[in-house]
Amino acid sequence: MQKAHIVVGDLLSDWTNLSFANVATTSPAAHKASMDWSAALARGGAAEFDGEAEKNGMLPLRQAAARLLSCGVEDVCVGSSATELLCSIAWAVWPNKGSNIVSTRSSFPSTVYPWSRVAESSGAEIRLANHDSNLYTNPDDILELIDENTSVVTLSHIEFSNGQRYDLEKFANAAHSVGAILVIDATQSMGMFPINAHSCGADVLVSSGYKWLRGTYGAAVGYISPSIRLNLNPGLVGFRSHADIWDLRADRMDFPQDASRFEYTTIHFGAVLGLAAAVEEICEIGIEQVWAHDLSLADAVAEGADQLGLSVVSPMSVKERSAIVSLRMPVGISSEEIAQRLQDEYSILVTSRSGFLRVSPHLDNTIDEVNSLISALEEILS
Ligand SMILES: Cc1ncc(COP(=O)(O)O)c(C=O)c1O
Repeated sequence: MQKAHIVVGDLLSDWTNLSFANVATTSPAAHKASMDWSAALARGGAAEFDGEAEKNGMLPLRQAAARLLSCGVEDVCVGSSATELLCSIAWAVWPNKGSNIVSTRSSFPSTVYPWSRVAESSGAEIRLANHDSNLYTNPDDILELIDENTSVVTLSHIEFSNGQRYDLEKFANAAHSVGAILVIDATQSMGMFPINAHSCGADVLVSSGYKWLRGTYGAAVGYISPSIRLNLNPGLVGFRSHADIWDLRADRMDFPQDASRFEYTTIHFGAVLGLAAAVEEICEIGIEQVWAHDLSLADAVAEGADQLGLSVVSPMSVKERSAIVSLRMPVGISSEEIAQRLQDEYSILVTSRSGFLRVSPHLDNTIDEVNSLISALEEILS
């Protein structure tokens, strides 16, 4: 895969972003779509973005996400952020007192907090599986927490700090066997790893747009399976929650039958259109090809680190790995300082997370860029 961009619209970039688990350098197609929309609004307000356009504003992203997830448009909704969608879903599910919610201690907080907040009000129990010093969670430890009182199993599909990936089918089967649902935060996987929404068994999948999907801030997508969505009354509601959004009457609220019942208000439609363009771009390249490309770069990071004597804390087995490679720095050297020096002295972006140096290459990156990172690390560490 060729490097996709140096020039983004009219912006020249000198950065090498090897940190898509943090923030993407926006796809040029997404940047253009978003800027075009902003320019139209600045020019003509509702004359250039009228009621009909607003009503259909989420559709391009719903269609693109449905294509990427191999599901129907009716299964997909759009929100401003992954966290917002997860909150609305947690309030909709409302696990009762006596039931429990199972997750991991190494999850990104937004995977768990919405459930903790609802549990605080409902009296449900939160159960979090522990991890080892590499932040690795044994999947069996999660499965052991599931019992006949479990109502929700909620996981980050790929853990943000070390890239550990969970087998969705395994957890869907375990959740369903006790009548629970599986809610997946796919923010660190969607756009990197191929996901078939129906066959993976998850009841809900949510992903932010500004990481592996290469959109901007301000847009996110959710998949809500047909088997549960009609029973869910969204936790966040507004004028857009009513099936006909321009039939503006406050004395009733009938949710749409499809997943768009979780869309409740206006959002940054430019971010939505941008993300739609970025997701289409991934579909055109092919998600299997993106996954293979990202893994080959992740391999190169791991091999380079090995040559420098740095240990890789990320699981590297075929079934549990991802394109996130986290490295343990030598004793006495802070990952934060290394990340800062890589940025300041080499214009290379990686992230310090949970005490590790997290490298997360994606489709815009080349093997030469990974080699530059390894050379820079060698210079800094010597
Ligand atoms: C797994 C995971 N979920 C959610 C988020 C945050 O998403 P948002 O900003 O869209 O709420 C992050 C950000 O790092 C993340 O890693």
